[in-house]
Order: sequence, then structure tokens, then C-alpha cells
Amino acid sequence: MANASLVIGNWKMNGSQALTRSMADALRAAVPSCGDTKVVVCPPYTLLAELTRHCYYDGIAVGAQNVNANENGAHTGEVSLTMLKELAVEYVIVGHSERRAMYGDDNSAVAAKVTAVTQAKLNAVLCVGEDKQQYDAGNTWQVVEQQLQAACAELTPEQAAKLVVAYEPIWAIGTGETATPAQAEEVHANIRQWLVKRFAAIGEKIEILYGGSVKADNAAELFAQQHIDGGLIGGASLKEDQFVAIVQAAQ
Ligand code: G3P
Repeated sequence: MANASLVIGNWKMNGSQALTRSMADALRAAVPSCGDTKVVVCPPYTLLAELTRHCYYDGIAVGAQNVNANENGAHTGEVSLTMLKELAVEYVIVGHSERRAMYGDDNSAVAAKVTAVTQAKLNAVLCVGEDKQQYDAGNTWQVVEQQLQAACAELTPEQAAKLVVAYEPIWAIGTGETATPAQAEEVHANIRQWLVKRFAAIGEKIEILYGGSVKADNAAELFAQQHIDGGLIGGASLKEDQFVAIVQAAQ
């Protein structure tokens, strides 16, 4: 059993056709020796087709960074689950703190997306996490629990089987300031307990990822924690050598 079963790269609004191809090549070379660890890359929408073309048969899954919970219709600029499915997308990030802060994804929008994604039988990567002020005030768990409660309000256990939770303390995102393995582990253990209480046996199996300044040199220590099942990687997922090293650290 791998230390970490799932490593996801979130490219945010970065990347190009060329990076998509070179990352696919680098991962294709590395992934066969990475045992049970599943690797997912979430580029911007415009690169999904190219990634799928290069990865589909090679054990690397394709993910999207967002989705509109509606089926179709008058939603200018939005992308539906049906459209993502046509591109063989398997994972969708939901409720990333950048979307919560800048694009109006409040708890109810996040809940609607988690429900829609899991109903469509895709994997929803639900992001939760506190900001610096909440962290300093000692309110981390209170914030995370509220986010979990709101996002999972409508989920059946069957839908929960398609859920991944990513704990991303906002103060650690893109700052180089990672939560220590012990800090992250404490929150992850609480999340696990909450998931088991809410979804019973299925809650035991939901993967809980850590995100926030994960790099090649701190990944192994984070992944070694009992309740850290993998990582959601931002900046370091844009560099082939670093992302491959993180995937290898999952072993
Ligand atoms: O979703 C990934 C993320 O927000 C972490 O970003 O750059 O700190 O690894 P980064």
C-alpha cells in the first residue's frame, strides 16, 4: 500500500498546450513505477482535450478545476458536467478557496456542485480550509467542520463514495509556508472522524488530501502521516521534475 494513494495537480490559470504535452510525457514515464498511487492533472478547461489525448490510456486521470452545477442552458461562460464527461474528465475540484474568495462560490454553491458532480458519478475534490485569521484565533476545526457540513448536506452514502476531501489551509497556499505534518495530521484525523460519523463505513474510504505549498522536499513527510492520503498540489504541479518527484514521494 502506498503512503499516499492520490496526487492531484491543480494548474489554476496556468499552463499551455506545450506544458500539457511535456507533463503528460514526464508522468507517463514515471507513473508505471508508482504502484497504486493515482495521479490526476487539473489544467484549465482549454487544455483538457489535449491532456486527455495524451493520457487517456496511461493511468493518469484528467480533472477539471470547476464546473457549473446546471445541466445546460443560458449560462454564458460556464461549462457543464456533460461537457466534462465528453472529455473523459474523472475529477472535479470544488470549492477551492480562490473560487470561494473571488468567484462567489459560497457554501450553498459548493454544496450544489458537490451534489451534481457526485450524482454524475465523477469524483468531487471538495476543498476546505481556514484563513490566517481563523487559524490564529484557533478556529480551524470550527471552520472546516462548517464547510464539510454545508457541502455534504445533501449527499447520500453512495454519492459520498465519489468524494475526495482536500484540506488546504489558506495561509499555506502559494506562500511557501506549509502546515507542519503534525498540524495537518491533526486536522485530517478530525476530518476522518467527521466523515465516518456522517457516512459510516464509506467515510473510512474517502481520501483526504493535504494542499498548501507541498513541494518535492516536504511531500514524503506529509504523506507519511496516517490520515494524509495524498496531496493537492498547486505551483509544484507546473514543473515536470517537481511534480514527478512528489508523485514518487507518494510511494
Ligand atoms: O489547490 C492547490 C493549492 O491551492 C495549493 O497551491 O501552490 O501552495 O501548492 P500551492
